[in-house]
This record gives sequence, C-alpha cells and structure tokens, in this order.
Amino acid sequence: MKSAVEAIRGADHIVVLTGAGMSVESGIAPFRGEDGLWSEFDPQEMASVTGFSKHPERCWQLFRLQIEECFGAEPHEGYEALVEMEDHGLEAVITQNVDGLHQKAGSKKVLELHGTLNELVCDSCGNRKDTEDMFEEISDGEIPYCECEAVMRPDVVLFGEPLPQKTLKEAWSAVEDTSLIMSIGTSSVVQPAASLPLTAKRSGSTIMELNVKPTQLTPRADHFLEGKAGEILPELVKRLRNL
Ligand code: OAD
Repeated sequence: MKSAVEAIRGADHIVVLTGAGMSVESGIAPFRGEDGLWSEFDPQEMASVTGFSKHPERCWQLFRLQIEECFGAEPHEGYEALVEMEDHGLEAVITQNVDGLHQKAGSKKVLELHGTLNELVCDSCGNRKDTEDMFEEISDGEIPYCECEAVMRPDVVLFGEPLPQKTLKEAWSAVEDTSLIMSIGTSSVVQPAASLPLTAKRSGSTIMELNVKPTQLTPRADHFLEGKAGEILPELVKRLRNL
C-alpha cells in the first residue's frame, strides 16, 4: 500500500481502467466466475449480434436484468475515491462497464469502451432514446419498439460488433501519454481493453492492479493491491490526502 501511494504521488498523468469488479460492491453482477452472468446466460445467444437478430426477445431477458440492476445501483465509496483522485493526477477513466456509475459518482472524463445501458438504439433507422424514458415499460416486461417498428436495444457493444472507434482511439491515446495506469476489477481477458495496460507499459508507464484475486495481468503489474475496490480505493485516497 505504501509503495502504491508513493507511485500515485509521483505520477504526473494517471489513467484508470475499470471492469465489472468495480461495480460488484454496488450490487451489479460481474460476467465471469461463479456468480457471473456468463455462468447463467450464454453470451453468444443472449449478447451477440446474431443472437439479437435471431431472437431479440430472449436477449431482452438479459438486457432487462442488467438495466434493472444498474438503474437501482448507487456508486460506492471507491467511485468517490476515483473522483477525488482527479486532484492527484487522474485524467481519464476508461471503463468496460455499461452501468454509468462513474458518471453518477461525478468522474469528469469517462470513456465507455463497451457502450452504455443508458441509451437505446435502433439498428434499423439509427433512432436513439433515453432508457430512463422507457424504464417502466421495460420493467413491466415489454420490449421497446422504435417508431420504424424495429426492436430497439441498449447501446452496448454486442459480441460480433466493433467497439466505438472514436472512444477506442481516445483510450489508446490516453494510455500512451500516461505515467501510471490502474487496472481495477477486470479479469483482463477481453480485448482490446486487456491490452491497454500493456500498451501503457511499453510507453514507460507503471501498471498498478487492484483485484480481489490475481489475473493474467498480475505478473506484468508493478504493484498488485489485493482486495475490494470499495475498500482499497478509499484507503489509497485517504493516505494521499494525509501526505
Ligand atoms: P469479469 O467478470 O470478467 O471480471 C471481473 C473481475 O473483477 C474479476 O477479475 C474479479 O476477480 C474482480 N472483482 C470482483 N469483485 C471485485 C471487487 N469488489 N473489487 C475488485 N475486483 C473485484 O469482468 P470484466 O473484466 O469487466 O463485455 O469483463 C470484460 C468484458 O467481458 C465485459 O465488459 C463484458 C464481458 O463479456 C461485453 O459484454 C462486451
């Protein structure tokens, strides 16, 4: 912990990469592991482009669950700690999460690599709507339709789809300029997000990882903080404040 605090203090530019583990303490299920969504749902069937075109109503079972979980969630203290870290050099949060909790906590620059549940999109005509405006119907079990009569879906990246290119470009350029990257609550298996810390390292950055257990990134990390994001991040910030 002490050397991690010193590394943060000594860094001019800091970028954070978050994954589903960041939201677990806010009550949102991760994807992998025993309690993960992918142990209950088949991602190819429920969260892929082909799955959605074949049986959108089945995909909406998963979307509904995710939307209800995220709309009922509040950012925990770890999120607030990341907002405070903006006073200590944190410049951007790159997230694989689609729950909007970083923005809800007040983080200024959030790059959503996998899109957001907060908007619905129509693949047929490009129309967009705020999910909030359709929340009641969705909770009641309805599937949202566009005015053009196509089924809408959340603006999240489905398997088989490219990531939003502008956001991805911004993420690459943020990690190339950073002196410290913190990888928080991600299993580091999904590309291209998993490559961001390694790209940062090639440009001279230090990698700090925070996770409840080691991942495949851990051997490449300069600092590994083992524990929960909602506990370790507030502790880090408390120590930064007291320096
Ligand atoms: P995963 O579910 O793969 O990994 C979550 C990570 O968080 C694991 O390494 C856990 O050990 C860790 N973890 C759990 N609780 C934690 C806590 N309280 N504090 C810190 N760490 C904790 O989620 P991601 O790595 O985000 O993509 O998954 C990446 C992508 O795979 C997702 O964005 C999603 C999924 O398929 C799409 O849907 C496109």
